[in-house]
Amino acid sequence: MKILVTGGAGYVGSACLRHLKQHGHDAIAYDNLIEGHPSAVGDCELIIGDIADTDKLTKTLNDFDAEAVMHFAAATYVGESVENPEYHYRNNIGGTLSLLNAMRKAGVDRMLFSSTCATYGNSPKVPMSEDQPQDPYSPYARTKLAVEWMIRDFAHAYGLGFTLLRYFNASGASRDGAFGEYHNPETHLIPIVLQTLLGQRESVKVFGNDYPTADGTCIRDYIHIEDLASAHLLAIEATTRQTAEVFNVGTGQGQSVLEIIESCERVAGREVPRQWAPRRPGDPPALVADPSKLKTRLGWAPRYTSIDETIATAWRWHESHPEGYGPR
Ligand code: UFG
Repeated sequence: MKILVTGGAGYVGSACLRHLKQHGHDAIAYDNLIEGHPSAVGDCELIIGDIADTDKLTKTLNDFDAEAVMHFAAATYVGESVENPEYHYRNNIGGTLSLLNAMRKAGVDRMLFSSTCATYGNSPKVPMSEDQPQDPYSPYARTKLAVEWMIRDFAHAYGLGFTLLRYFNASGASRDGAFGEYHNPETHLIPIVLQTLLGQRESVKVFGNDYPTADGTCIRDYIHIEDLASAHLLAIEATTRQTAEVFNVGTGQGQSVLEIIESCERVAGREVPRQWAPRRPGDPPALVADPSKLKTRLGWAPRYTSIDETIATAWRWHESHPEGYGPR
């Protein structure tokens, strides 16, 4: 299949791009490089462009003769979305509208959308299945839910097969060390803890110790990036022009912030300085997947089932890439 990957130079997009290529698909990246890194795409083709540029996107889809789109390009920082919602609404909702119009013009009628468990928000039930009510807790999560509806409405009116993947916390690095997690500025927990272990930060701030969880810190479901990529491969291969599907992608296991710090300490063999900090606005207390539907319908099986194993891949990458992908 010929697949255009928006946000293909980002952390999750580049992992999926490489996985598609490794499994015989012809995939290219389309990325504005505001968050992405050219070196993350490896030897895959990269078109530098913004999803808001409908004409360039349409031309790229036509020139490549694309059959499907995997859509990752988005603003993703939860905290930033609370402080600057305009950027998230413009980029995520406006950008996806432009993409859907480009797809219509180019006659591309299959897509996979990178949605998020954050659309469930403050849900009372953990683990979460796909039919759980969605109650997004941050502007970022609200843009992702709005896009889910936009895709459904376009599919109904204009004909489009789609799969929505609501995934949990992407983490880790590739087993062969080819790519890892690097954002600048970094806001994600695991890279921050590892950067602290490397002496690049003085301590880890633990955002909130009064959540209704066993140790008072937030719980997330940390899924290894390669398992996330394998779910994307299965999902796009199963997406036909008639498909209208949604899957949660997570391990089914939750770890608290303190448990993540302890896992990093076990993996690196030394202690991480930490300090308590106030809750971060927009953070729900617990997000854990029920991945049963993905397993039974698509035959997905995660390779990484222990958090230490996942963090060990991230630690190897951070040790060997202390400056990440370096300056752009
Ligand atoms: N955290 C800290 N200290 C830090 C950084 C994070 O305590 O320095 C905490 C957060 O408050 C949160 C947890 O660690 O409780 C995980 O935070 P991340 O920033 O690593 O990840 P998020 O859960 O906020 O968000 C990520 C992605 C989103 C995605 C979401 C799904 O950034 O795009 O996972 O849960 F939607």
